[in-house]
Amino acid sequence: MAGATMMAVRVHAFGGPEELRYEKVPVPRPGPGEVLVRVHAAGVNPPDWYGRTGFANIPEAIRVALSLPFTPGSDISGEIVALGPDVTGWSVGEAVLGLVRFPSRGGRGEGYAQYATAPVTDLARKPAGLDHVRAAGVPMAGLTAYQFLYDHLGLGPGDGKGRTVLVNGAAGGVGHFTVQLAKVLGAEVVGVASTRHREFLAGLGADRFVDYTATPVEDVVRDVDHLVDTVGGPDAHRLLPVVRRGGTISPVFLGEYHRERAQRLGIDFRSGQVHSDGAQLAELVGLIDQGLVQVGVDSVFPLARAAEAHQRAERGHLQGKIVLRVAEDW
Ligand SMILES: NC(=O)c1ccc[n+]([C@@H]2O[C@H](COP(=O)([O-])OP(=O)(O)OC[C@H]3O[C@@H](n4cnc5c(N)ncnc54)[C@H](OP(=O)(O)O)[C@@H]3O)[C@@H](O)[C@H]2O)c1
Repeated sequence: MAGATMMAVRVHAFGGPEELRYEKVPVPRPGPGEVLVRVHAAGVNPPDWYGRTGFANIPEAIRVALSLPFTPGSDISGEIVALGPDVTGWSVGEAVLGLVRFPSRGGRGEGYAQYATAPVTDLARKPAGLDHVRAAGVPMAGLTAYQFLYDHLGLGPGDGKGRTVLVNGAAGGVGHFTVQLAKVLGAEVVGVASTRHREFLAGLGADRFVDYTATPVEDVVRDVDHLVDTVGGPDAHRLLPVVRRGGTISPVFLGEYHRERAQRLGIDFRSGQVHSDGAQLAELVGLIDQGLVQVGVDSVFPLARAAEAHQRAERGHLQGKIVLRVAEDW
């Protein structure tokens, strides 16, 4: 049973990784429809460190307002230790993972802590064969890949056959899940990443690898059906020649795609914001449990060293996920 206090990481002022403070705070109480989870591992995602800076990299008009202090982190894997009012169908002792209250809390999911509350609708059961570190790497990045392919592109089992999906930023959190889910759907997959990810992506099933540090992808690839771009940025439009007429671009992050020109080229845009969904997460976890999808782990840091995890994230060029190890007794 949880005590009255716990250790958590909190941001008291917007700024660099040094603003992440490891400190004692009260254990939260689960509200109606929620459970209290003893967190074993917490995933690190870009909104965690964007939020730490006050979303300085996001245009002001669409910036989420965060009140200080707050505990970042929306990806958790752990064990249910208490049930809130009105919770049925879930038990104390069950191992669970989830993308918690995203995007409603906008990066303030309170996952960088020894305990976190979570609506049960955000959770999936963790299979025994998936350890907590890898499980914590799944929710946000995995659900983004899942929702882009299944919801935004409307693909279902077998629909990928005869189609080519190009994943830009293929080795990162979202990218490596997108590569694998596109393969599960039957597509031919082109992965674009820097040199050191070649073997990693081949191991995940990518049919073709383009090392963008050696060759601009727009020089060597044409006529893909779907481009999933996890990179974006001001020169994202350079990728237009890669997509066939009638094909789609799915921007995962903000980018300048010269949309009028894209429209003239017959290219459609399909995109959206990832959101918590326990049922979809359970389907994705099922694919992982069957060995059809792997979780790449770039690096693991203890919760108390969350600042180093953010420094690693900001250096970029990730291969899979960064995870915070919270509990040491498993
Ligand atoms: N729309 C949504 O709901 C949603 C959801 C999740 C994430 N996102 C956003 O999507 C972005 C990616 O998230 P993530 O978690 O996957 O990040 P990540 O784990 O940091 O991965 C980014 C990947 O991009 C690669 N990369 C960097 N520059 C590149 C370039 N010029 N060309 C090709 N690859 C390049 C990096 O490795 P290499 O350079 O070594 O190849 C890295 O593997 C973030 O900006 C995040 O905020 C949006």
